[in-house]
Amino acid sequence: MDKLKILIVASEVVPFAKTGGLADVAGALPKALRALGHDVLVVMPRYYMVDKQKYNLQALEGALGVDMGRNGETWGLVLEGVLPNSDVPVYFIEHEGYFGRKELYDEGGYGYIDNAERFIFFSKAALQLSKKLHFQADIIHANDWHSAIIPLLLNTKYANDPHFKDTASVLTIHNLQHQGRFSKDVMELLGIGWESFNTYELEDFDGVNLLKGGVVHADAITTVSPKYAQEIRTPEFDWGLKDVLNAHAHKLYGILNGVDYEEWSPCNDPFIAKNYDVDAMSGKKVCKEELQKFFNLPVREDVPVIGFVGRLADQKGISLIAHEIWKLMRLDVQVVLLGAGEKWAEGFFSHVSEIYKDKFGSYIGYRNDLAHQIEAGSDFFLMPSLFEPCGLNQIYSLSYGTLPIVRATGGLDDTIENFDASNNSGTGFKFYDASPEALYGTISWAIDTWYNNKDAIRQLVHNGMKKHFGWDDTAKIYEGVYYQAQQHRHKN
Ligand code: ADP
Ligand code: GLC
Repeated sequence: MDKLKILIVASEVVPFAKTGGLADVAGALPKALRALGHDVLVVMPRYYMVDKQKYNLQALEGALGVDMGRNGETWGLVLEGVLPNSDVPVYFIEHEGYFGRKELYDEGGYGYIDNAERFIFFSKAALQLSKKLHFQADIIHANDWHSAIIPLLLNTKYANDPHFKDTASVLTIHNLQHQGRFSKDVMELLGIGWESFNTYELEDFDGVNLLKGGVVHADAITTVSPKYAQEIRTPEFDWGLKDVLNAHAHKLYGILNGVDYEEWSPCNDPFIAKNYDVDAMSGKKVCKEELQKFFNLPVREDVPVIGFVGRLADQKGISLIAHEIWKLMRLDVQVVLLGAGEKWAEGFFSHVSEIYKDKFGSYIGYRNDLAHQIEAGSDFFLMPSLFEPCGLNQIYSLSYGTLPIVRATGGLDDTIENFDASNNSGTGFKFYDASPEALYGTISWAIDTWYNNKDAIRQLVHNGMKKHFGWDDTAKIYEGVYYQAQQHRHKN
């Protein structure tokens, strides 16, 4: 098969800037595609968080001019670096006004007021960059609403541009909840003419919906698990887009995310107290001890520790946990939580840890090292999401021998097999209803198994640690979708 020139556009990329799983994916998939022999470039914004010195970023010569519609030509700069441990180039779009900020998308719970303008600039700059570099991409792979207008721009503004004549577009939806819905004034920044402002393309309740524009115009759409690709076509999970998605279902694919095992393996994780692997598990006990110490919990091997790491957002089922936490605190268990997000949840979980000092530990904030330590030191990992496009932490948990307790939705359902006591098969504990009762019932089931069926727990840990969700296999599936996208492009 042909080797492809691929431009990956993402608003966050590990290790440079991260708020969630998109960054993990955008940092790992390019390397896996490179390993298959493709020519891959990555583009992201240069926020203050991106450390120029540490990653030795070098400025490209000359500025980048971007047509911002009614704002006229807007200039940015470009920095160049590589993805660590690879030869994949990463380009950073620099613009002090748009990206010279502390955070990526919001501060103090409020989205930046000019997010539409910032990411329209970023998307257009990515296209201009490919011209500047004379990189005639076969595939431009956009991710989420931040870069979703790229497929639309290729079919409108750049439709007759020879540089893009063979460029097909792929849009990955990591989370359908966030669609980039803005007022219709944004049309004046897109600079593509009002003819695209109609219900079949960009219009959504008299506003602009950038993700919808991407879904309509992309040559292929992917989501990050097969189950989520089904779910988003139904009213429960569609956030208003099912009709559009169903109309374009012929080019919709569900591809499960992989894990970067260089980052997330207990055998070589530099953040954890002691390394271990499936054949030598004693290090896990040390990790548990250190975790208990970190949270000032009694150091006890005989009590199950349940970990939670994630954005404190409704999506993650935090209201279910909040509802059941008092009942849970009556059991002989310890819970540790790392997260930041909704103010009520930050306050609520801090309050619980003040009341139950010897049972509940919380750290409100973002800390990568602690995320690794919770994966390694916990016995169970809780992820009761209301919806979950893929979810990475439950897959990391499998690798760390930490048993996931999950709601059977999206990628959680695709990656975790339910415990079957008749033959000790499975890799975790699953529940179906998004109800506090179902959550509590399943946590009790897991804890009861922990106390009364040690053999089953040992077997489940073993089953999970033997699973492999590598990017190598996943990248091959993306490769197949890229070829499909090229065919779609040539037919249309
Ligand atoms: P989502 O992208 O919806 O947030 P994922 O499970 O795909 O969910 O990915 C979340 C990623 O972000 C994981 O790598 C997780 O460890 C990390 N993460 C989330 N919250 C925090 C936090 N407070 N501190 C450190 N890492 C976090
Ligand atoms: C999103 C989803 C999460 C997924 C991640 C990476 O943020 O919420 O489920 O794992 O993107 O694709």
